[in-house]
Amino acid sequence: MLKVLEHPLITHKLTQMRRKECGTKDFRANLDEIAGLMAYEISRDLPLRTVDIETPVSPYTTKELAKDIVLVPILRAGLGMVNGIANLIPTVKIAHIGLYRDEETLEPHTYFEKYPKNVKDAVVMIVDPMLATGGSANAAIDMVKKQGAKNIRLVCLVGAPEGVKAVEEAHPEVDIYLAALDEKLNEHGYIVPGLGDAGDRIFGTK
Ligand code: PRP
Ligand code: URA
Repeated sequence: MLKVLEHPLITHKLTQMRRKECGTKDFRANLDEIAGLMAYEISRDLPLRTVDIETPVSPYTTKELAKDIVLVPILRAGLGMVNGIANLIPTVKIAHIGLYRDEETLEPHTYFEKYPKNVKDAVVMIVDPMLATGGSANAAIDMVKKQGAKNIRLVCLVGAPEGVKAVEEAHPEVDIYLAALDEKLNEHGYIVPGLGDAGDRIFGTK
């Protein structure tokens, strides 16, 4: 399932990020805020369990989150989405997957992976601002599946149709959430209109 999260605040903030004159500080702040806005929607169907508690006034049977949630940023750019989501989902644990895309071949290369203990039974949310060819996302999904993950969501800011198709074909059971579905990839594998190289814009590198 592909879900494009349309909201005026998301659209406005993403427009600021797309502007080429948007500096590192504003780019990071807008990404953080959009990730927070997306958290509401991507957590809408999280399972709850019944619990008995005591309020200051009386005993009360109510509900709380039933499953561990593991956030998996794809390094580097995925790091820019972690705080916005983690601030709103209190039980979150954070894994890391280090991948970079070879600029010539566009193939993803793995350089790091680290997981918490409960990946197998957790709701796993892979986060990365850019879904271009889908190579990095598919590699990350393969990696968390190797850890036993069964309930996997992919959360990106901007996606290209080519990347969405690649993930849907390789992992049809993974739900994909985007803030925007853009037009296409250019001949260098960049999303058009996109926002350029997300990692470089977040960290001020080139
Ligand atoms: C970017 C982006 C994704 C990947 C998307 O990362 O953050 O991880 O490219 O491209 P794909 O869908 O074609 O695989 P990059 O490799 O530039 O690394 P970085 O985050 O360290 O900048
Ligand atoms: N990675 C990025 O950071 N931007 C793109 O447009 C494509 C891949």
